[in-house]
Amino acid sequence: MTEDLQTLFDQAQHITFMTGAGVSTASGIPDYRSKSGLYSAKFKGLPPEYLLSHDCFVEQPEMFYDFVKENLYFPDAKPNVIHEKIAALCRSGQASLITQNIDNLDRTAGNDQVIEFHGNLYRCYCSKDGEQVDWHDYMKSMYHDTDHGIIRPDIVLYGESISESALQRSMAAIEAADQLVIVGTSFKVYPFAGLINYRQPNAKLIVVNNEPIPAGSVTAQYTGDAETFFADLKG
Ligand code: OAD
Repeated sequence: MTEDLQTLFDQAQHITFMTGAGVSTASGIPDYRSKSGLYSAKFKGLPPEYLLSHDCFVEQPEMFYDFVKENLYFPDAKPNVIHEKIAALCRSGQASLITQNIDNLDRTAGNDQVIEFHGNLYRCYCSKDGEQVDWHDYMKSMYHDTDHGIIRPDIVLYGESISESALQRSMAAIEAADQLVIVGTSFKVYPFAGLINYRQPNAKLIVVNNEPIPAGSVTAQYTGDAETFFADLKG
């Protein structure tokens, strides 16, 4: 890491981190758009973008279930240095976190305040009666044993809206920050990527990613593995 980036971190009053799948690749969970990412291969002849859509959930629930169960759940994955350092900063009140990730690793790292913009795979509910269902039960069957309704994870599918509470909390976290740090995301998915438009006029913008992303003009960037950057980060 360059000294300038460390100085920017040290000088920040409140940092809001915005993260994506690239923070969990070091924990063994593939991202979406890299060469080896989830979107690089079809599943049973269907594109993953369709399989993660509301249409697929309604039209082909068995296909949706098989795809999600085989490709999204990594219950043995452990948080890495990125989740852990961000969690520590959030616990001390110096930072907030908005993540697109649905893998629960921020919570496992002890981050209770994380804003899960796209939901969480390990919270499931029955689409018929709305009742919460343990994710272990979902792994055993897609049908709710009490009313045979179809269970689903509480994640935002293509064609569905971001929850009002996630939007409100995210806007508040963006407005509260004098420094935004974007980590491990291709920054292509909206409305997440549009959140930076609500930052304070003088807020600094830092990008930590192993490839350039369309975040506009940034204060500083680190192009490389995010786990290396966070391992080197002091304080
Ligand atoms: P992407 O796969 O689009 O982007 C991940 C980014 O992280 C890419 O730019 C990678 O190059 C980079 N990356 C991967 N590993 C890294 C590492 N170790 N260090 C640094 N950078 C690394 O994933 P997201 O941007 O998170 O939505 O995707 C956004 C949304 O698209 C997801 O939340 C998901 C998907 O459709 C839903 O499921 C609703």
